[in-house]
Amino acid sequence: MGLIASSLLFIQCQQHGPSTQRKHLGFIADSALVVSARAEASQIGVSILRKGGNAFDAMIATEFALAVAYPFAGNLGGGGFMVYRTHEGLTGSLDYREKAPMTASKDMYLDKDGQIIPEKSTLGGLAVGVPGTVAGMIEVHKKFGSLPLSEILDPVIKLARKGVVVTKKQANRLASYRPSFRKVNPDTMLFLKNWKQHDTIKYPALATTLELILKEGRDGFYKGVIAQKLTAFIRKNGGIITEKDLENYQAIWRKPITFEYDNLKITSMAPPSSGGICLAQIMNSLEPFDLHKYGHNQTKTIQVITEASRRSYADRSFFLGDPDFVKIPMDTLISKTYAQRRMQSFSFERATPSQEVSHGNISLSESDETTHYSIVDSYGNAIAATTTLNGGYGSKLYAAELGFFLNNEMDDFSSKPGSPNMFGMIGAEANAIAPEKRMLSSMTPTIIEKDGRLWMSLGTPGGSTIITSVLQTILNVHEFGMGMQEAVSQPRFHHQWLPDTIRMEPQQFDLDTKQQLQNLGYQLDEENSPIIGKVEGILVMENGQFEGGADPRGDDTALGF
Ligand code: GLY
Repeated sequence: MGLIASSLLFIQCQQHGPSTQRKHLGFIADSALVVSARAEASQIGVSILRKGGNAFDAMIATEFALAVAYPFAGNLGGGGFMVYRTHEGLTGSLDYREKAPMTASKDMYLDKDGQIIPEKSTLGGLAVGVPGTVAGMIEVHKKFGSLPLSEILDPVIKLARKGVVVTKKQANRLASYRPSFRKVNPDTMLFLKNWKQHDTIKYPALATTLELILKEGRDGFYKGVIAQKLTAFIRKNGGIITEKDLENYQAIWRKPITFEYDNLKITSMAPPSSGGICLAQIMNSLEPFDLHKYGHNQTKTIQVITEASRRSYADRSFFLGDPDFVKIPMDTLISKTYAQRRMQSFSFERATPSQEVSHGNISLSESDETTHYSIVDSYGNAIAATTTLNGGYGSKLYAAELGFFLNNEMDDFSSKPGSPNMFGMIGAEANAIAPEKRMLSSMTPTIIEKDGRLWMSLGTPGGSTIITSVLQTILNVHEFGMGMQEAVSQPRFHHQWLPDTIRMEPQQFDLDTKQQLQNLGYQLDEENSPIIGKVEGILVMENGQFEGGADPRGDDTALGF
């Protein structure tokens, strides 16, 4: 086990009382559990469950509480995806992803020579996609809610008014992002102050916005005063979102991706997220290999995961986009025959150069900053939800009067599609910008059954590393016999076809393993990813109790009863 893992596991166990004193175990609960990026959000989720609310009620409370307590990625101005499994064993998913405004165009981030204009799709008003979070939460409430919205939102509004104590990690993040806040927000805004650890930040404007949503539901955000103020603000800052864009926004219930791996049935997010398809393709490619025998994070295991990921990410770049706009060969991509055919070119004797897998030359440059939470309730329902502003604090544009940051999700489109791959397909065309289209995501909220019973709920932030982080966490438990917390805390690596390197968390991997990989022709990169993913997971243990895994890489916390 690496340094991060062992030292932080100890802290985690210390915090979580007597039931967690056993080695490597995370928070244990008998009935219900929430794991999220902040203790305040997990506490609020648990308070809803204690009142008798179900996992969906707790989801709404946790999502909004993250918008208050974790503005880095929690949001009202962004979007996300949720996968669920009900107590009756029914699975489904909700897409509350942002979408392009009606006047968006394919070349909107290019100059007259067809070159990408730096920062245009990442900073300020033009980077903002039409937000989906509020519509998503209202939709969840309509379909599955059991408590009145007032009971669900009450603790969140109270938290916003009372304020949230700044953690050390948050103070560091705020300090490092302050220059961008200043650049994008010419007027004074809350986060320009030099916030220190232990300070309390209050969010009165956000509380007022939440009160309006409570009073008027979806329309409180997508029509009327908020819509007017929001669109005027975005336009003043160079954006193109109109009131009509907001009014037209709809969250969509989608059929999730479902596949089997050994005795596991895995349910994950379908397009416009690439998460479920890529996870299926990679796991289908891995299934014939005896990972358990090769050993956790050992050369052969890293090799075969790398090669499966390389092939899947190459396909991702060419085939995937918003399914309402492009035709995706979904059945083929997630079939075992296809995955195994793709692996025929793999040999343990040497690395497959990415050029041989495809001649495409598009690399993924997705931002790392998103957040995931998982919830199980005492009725047997489970959800996995991943939500994002895309970059940390999104576009950095803060609607001060309304109290929230706006996303820069437009950057998840391919701003400059058009390079052909070896199959003659036009690279990333599937993810080109078009009016009202949803941008491709990597978010992979996932729920797993084992032998027909709920077994795990998990997900993570991490941009393009989301899929491989979720994958490794599942394998850590299923193949290598770890518990949830131990699995979440392990060092991770990542390969995404291009660039053709294995990114590794620094100083976490065995020296001999690294040398062997290099001898086989793999290029290792320990410079660019101090952390890979920040996974939250819940495992149903053999005795029926739940174990929460909260990633020690952040302030993440599992709580329950
Ligand atoms: N913005 C990160 C993702 O959607 O994958």
